[in-house]
Amino acid sequence: MGPAHIGILGLGTVGCGTVNVLTRNADEISRRAGRQISIAAACARNLTRRRDCDTSELNLTTDAVSVVENPDIDVIVELIGGESPAKELVMAAIRNRKHVVTANKALIAIHGNEIFDCAQQHGVVVAFEAAVAGGISIIKAIREGLAGNRIESLAGIINGTGNYILSSMRDHGDSFDQALRQAQNLGYAEEDPTFDIEGIDAAHKLTILAAIAFGIPLQFDKVYTEGIRNISTEDIRFAEELGYRIKHLGIAKRTTTGVELRVHPTLIPERRLIANVEGVMNAVLVNGDAVGPTLHYGAGAGAEPTASSVVADIVDVVRALTTDPNNRVPHLAFQANAISDIPVVSPGDFETAYFLSMEALDRPGVLADVTRIFGELDISIEAILQREPVEKNTAQVIILTQETKEQRMMQALVQLEELPSIMDAVKRIRVEHLSYSAT
Ligand code: HSE
Repeated sequence: MGPAHIGILGLGTVGCGTVNVLTRNADEISRRAGRQISIAAACARNLTRRRDCDTSELNLTTDAVSVVENPDIDVIVELIGGESPAKELVMAAIRNRKHVVTANKALIAIHGNEIFDCAQQHGVVVAFEAAVAGGISIIKAIREGLAGNRIESLAGIINGTGNYILSSMRDHGDSFDQALRQAQNLGYAEEDPTFDIEGIDAAHKLTILAAIAFGIPLQFDKVYTEGIRNISTEDIRFAEELGYRIKHLGIAKRTTTGVELRVHPTLIPERRLIANVEGVMNAVLVNGDAVGPTLHYGAGAGAEPTASSVVADIVDVVRALTTDPNNRVPHLAFQANAISDIPVVSPGDFETAYFLSMEALDRPGVLADVTRIFGELDISIEAILQREPVEKNTAQVIILTQETKEQRMMQALVQLEELPSIMDAVKRIRVEHLSYSAT
């Protein structure tokens, strides 16, 4: 069979990584795909920029539309990122009956339902492994490897920048700002780092993971998202004293009333494997009813780790070029006509445990007032830690609670902050124990 022709849109970090992997491993890749993969065209905004790949043999252009209109191209590899013009180009490619491989999480999380619908109508595949957790094959693992399971929950460290920041704060006592600057200098952060630190990048990825885990539509707008900007080195130290690490987790969980979709800083027991995922590495813990907990770990970003997933998708798509469109692996793991409308649980109904940190006046009866509030709201306390005052006449009080409904905890916080003995706002960070066992 002759070569399959691909067109690459975007020659940035991942684009160049993809060119390098396709070139270096060409023989192995063609043995897997059953035919050679030839880059028929590559599009970049600026053709004179210095790049980390050899472009001398490439047919370069600045005209992306000419690539998606090129009748000789079978597969478009979209590595531009962002919503526009990526969406317009991907939709045009699909209408031209070209298959698409993309690493674009925002595109899939926000426009995926429409894109997959259009792809289905035109009999083409849109593959997106590289959109979540870089080089970890988590989409394939959930969609195909765990297809026999009812997935109960997943929890992931799915933003390397945020994990790098929290690791640096814990390991070196760096402030949040120092750690962020380092992450930016090392090239980990997104162009706009608020996407990383406010959890938007993780929410894009969680949206995709939840859809394929539960067979629900992509619902980015329903993900509760909280960033890590307010986490202090002091919080990290107190968590450590109690045997926990603070991680920025994306959590998708089935409950009796629907699915919880949330991204927020989370205390997890330090003995869990996922608590020991450090720096820019990513990991996703998936809990299936048959398999029990599985942990998927690897590089969540970077040129070649992400290219590894892009190229795997290219190989999959090339293999599928000759297959019946009705018998391919469904985009969102479940057949398009079997997507479920399980409701997304509203934040007030989340059920989780909490770590609370408050500055209290150092005088008799304060702890009794605090614990009375929890007792009256039927919130059970797991542990209390009090730091003796250093200079002022206040003491830092740390409380770990057992699981409760979020709305009940919000009531407790209001009442705590009304106590004359509690200074300032009470800091609250959710706690997840992530203790699953196989059935
Ligand atoms: N900025 C992202 C991260 C890159 O830090 O994980 C990969 O999506």
